[in-house]
Amino acid sequence: MKDAFGSPQSLLLLGGTSEIGLAVARRLIARRVRTVWLAGRPSPALEAAADGLRVLGADVRTTGFDALDPAGHEEVIGKVFADGDIDLVLLAFGVLGDQAHDEGEPAAAVRVAQTNYTGAVSAGLICAAALQNQGHGSLVVLSSVAGERARRANFIYGSSKAGLDAFTQGLGDALYGTGVHVMVVRPGFVRTRMTAGRPDAPLATTPEAVATAVELGLRRGSETVWVPGSLRVVMSALRHLPRPLFRRLPL
Ligand SMILES: NC(=O)c1ccc[n+]([C@@H]2O[C@H](COP(=O)([O-])OP(=O)(O)OC[C@H]3O[C@@H](n4cnc5c(N)ncnc54)[C@H](OP(=O)(O)O)[C@@H]3O)[C@@H](O)[C@H]2O)c1
Repeated sequence: MKDAFGSPQSLLLLGGTSEIGLAVARRLIARRVRTVWLAGRPSPALEAAADGLRVLGADVRTTGFDALDPAGHEEVIGKVFADGDIDLVLLAFGVLGDQAHDEGEPAAAVRVAQTNYTGAVSAGLICAAALQNQGHGSLVVLSSVAGERARRANFIYGSSKAGLDAFTQGLGDALYGTGVHVMVVRPGFVRTRMTAGRPDAPLATTPEAVATAVELGLRRGSETVWVPGSLRVVMSALRHLPRPLFRRLPL
């Protein structure tokens, strides 16, 4: 249960090695989170991530979770919720793909779509039902500014995030008034291993800045969070640019 101040005490991180997800976990452990489930594809990195949070004083468990195996989601997520209430689910798994390569290899593009969108639809609905069942909690979904308007340079990833974003907004509306809070987070360029080796985009930020924004959004009960916040204005302008102009921007 959330404590008397409304801070979560238990967290389920789907995408247990995500650098952004782990920054959020560290931030919340520094507040009141005591129990953390890291759900991800089994690997030494997942166990190392768990150890990294244990030294901060949290009770951390790992469980196998593959976004590309929706048939297994009910069992994995069911087991976590059966163990005790979860105050916060952070959906942080995702892949960027390689646009230039994936355009010529549809199976690879489908993998991006299935991980980022289909996998999230499955896990999101199952978590939403479990949160509704317990009568409280938050579902926070890492979308992206890339989903706001598809760009030539990464429209496969961008379209998967557009789908995820629309799905999460609808889910939030479906759960409005049930005691379950749904929050969409739209970061811009975040310096993590996902973007390693790429030059910083304008307004590039860090996992820690995303974590701060998530914590603030949770405290405020926000439905949408942009990171950095100024991206909301930038994207609102970009969204309305005529296509012939938008196409020519070096984005
Ligand atoms: N970095 C950015 O600039 C940025 C900007 C906006 C939004 N985002 C979004 O934020 C989220 C976290 O990204 P990040 O920057 O923290 O990247 P990251 O460190 O690369 O994390 C990605 C996570 O997704 C997991 N994952 C990938 N495929 C999976 C699958 N089939 N099943 C289960 N887990 C899978 C990875 O697990 P493994 O260890 O098993 O690979 C990893 O935990 C992603 O959804 C990303 O799209 C990132």
